[in-house]
Amino acid sequence: MAQQTARRIAPAQGKLGVLCVGLGAVSTTFIAGVENIRRGLAKPFGSLTQQGTIRLGKRTEGRAPLIREFVPLAGLDDLVFGAWDPVPDNGYAAARHAGVLDRHEHVEPIADFLRALEPMPAVFEQTYVKRLEGKNVKTGKTRRDLAESLRQDIRDFKARHGCDRLVMVWCASTEIFISPGPAHWTLEAFEKAMDANDPTVAPSMLYAYAAIQEGVPFVNGAPNLTCDFPAMEALAKSKGVAIGGKDFKTGQTLVKTVLAPMFKARMLGVAGWYSTNILGNRDGEVLDDPESFKTKEESKLGVLEYILQPQLYPELYGQMYHKVRINYYPPRGDNKEGWDNIDIFGWLGYPMQIKVDFLCRDSILAAPLVLDLALFFDLSQRAGLSGIQEWLSFYFKSPQVGPGLYPEHDLFIQQTKLKNTLRYLMGEEQITHLGIEYYQND
Ligand SMILES: NC(=O)c1ccc[n+]([C@@H]2O[C@H](COP(=O)([O-])OP(=O)(O)OC[C@H]3O[C@@H](n4cnc5c(N)ncnc54)[C@H](O)[C@@H]3O)[C@@H](O)[C@H]2O)c1
Repeated sequence: MAQQTARRIAPAQGKLGVLCVGLGAVSTTFIAGVENIRRGLAKPFGSLTQQGTIRLGKRTEGRAPLIREFVPLAGLDDLVFGAWDPVPDNGYAAARHAGVLDRHEHVEPIADFLRALEPMPAVFEQTYVKRLEGKNVKTGKTRRDLAESLRQDIRDFKARHGCDRLVMVWCASTEIFISPGPAHWTLEAFEKAMDANDPTVAPSMLYAYAAIQEGVPFVNGAPNLTCDFPAMEALAKSKGVAIGGKDFKTGQTLVKTVLAPMFKARMLGVAGWYSTNILGNRDGEVLDDPESFKTKEESKLGVLEYILQPQLYPELYGQMYHKVRINYYPPRGDNKEGWDNIDIFGWLGYPMQIKVDFLCRDSILAAPLVLDLALFFDLSQRAGLSGIQEWLSFYFKSPQVGPGLYPEHDLFIQQTKLKNTLRYLMGEEQITHLGIEYYQND
């Protein structure tokens, strides 16, 4: 039974251009993956938009449509792809370099499609990503000029491909850590800082600025500051554009945000949580630089504090020691190994340990998130939901939230938030899981 009026959502007609900033492991795994799926060569495992269902109404009603049939999402056949990268490799060369997908099974059969994807010259400065060098780079006197050049790229892409709508996803390297400062408080200050080539205006911010100015939703898949500051939030609101981030929640943090709520739910204490990773892809190499790692570390560390709430439970979590390491280890390539050692304690303080060894594939976990985010941000935009899309926290390690709010990290609360937002958009009843009506008639 519909409880409220559905929101007006513009139909998902025509082509949706997905502009990836960065054409590395994640982007090529996403793009090549979609093409393989479109040709019927593979399945979209890991994608909620493609495979997930949503329960509607009471448990006795038996209504559980596919999400993509419940809300109007763009179809995979309507997606077209573009990218910027300072490395001039086309999609084929980049996918081969990333080495994630099996060459014979998933790269060669779509080689022509991938070769046609030439990265546009990037806004890039090595100061922000120390371990990278790039030749396919824009030049401009000021940061504002560079942002204007990105805006032109966006307009050109849209016209060239006959796109109805666009969405931009940052899948580029993690930039050095930048704290929000005076340049980030207001739009006026930010624009002045662009004109003055202020170093606190990082390349990722210029992409976000260009996207928002062009009315294109912007998603940040890395932990960079990028659009997580008042000037950008105000711009997004005033232009009616959906924004959000930060940092795809894929491997170790995904596991952490499932285990930590369990400890808290059962009032089990945590004495320490030691997390370490080895990975050997280009992302691992970039994160080997202490300044880029600091950005990632901040994103990974916050999670436990918010979930376990040591201020509310000082005896259980007040003394917790939390450490996160990422080590670059080339032989593993994209196949990251993440270990967790968790020292917990229970009844009367008796200690116990949990060990997790997740032999994952970084980009295989990230690619379906890029797809879901592109489709959901496009949905938000068509539904007139502007500014920060907190309902998509489900996908992020360090979710961007409005002023005065703390981020929600618990994966299952995030999932409930996401599905309830879809129900809200379509005018369906919220599911509270109260369930007492099944047992009480009075
Ligand atoms: N599971 C995951 O893979 C995962 C999870 C969370 C976040 N991330 C983040 O996603 C991003 C991409 O990861 P990846 O494994 O594809 O890395 P990658 O190194 O393979 O690809 C990143 C690409 O971005 C390009 N780049 C760097 N600066 C750029 C700029 N200013 N403009 C345009 N392109 C630029 C690089 O040249 C490179 O080709 C990283 O920031 C990573 O930390 C990945």
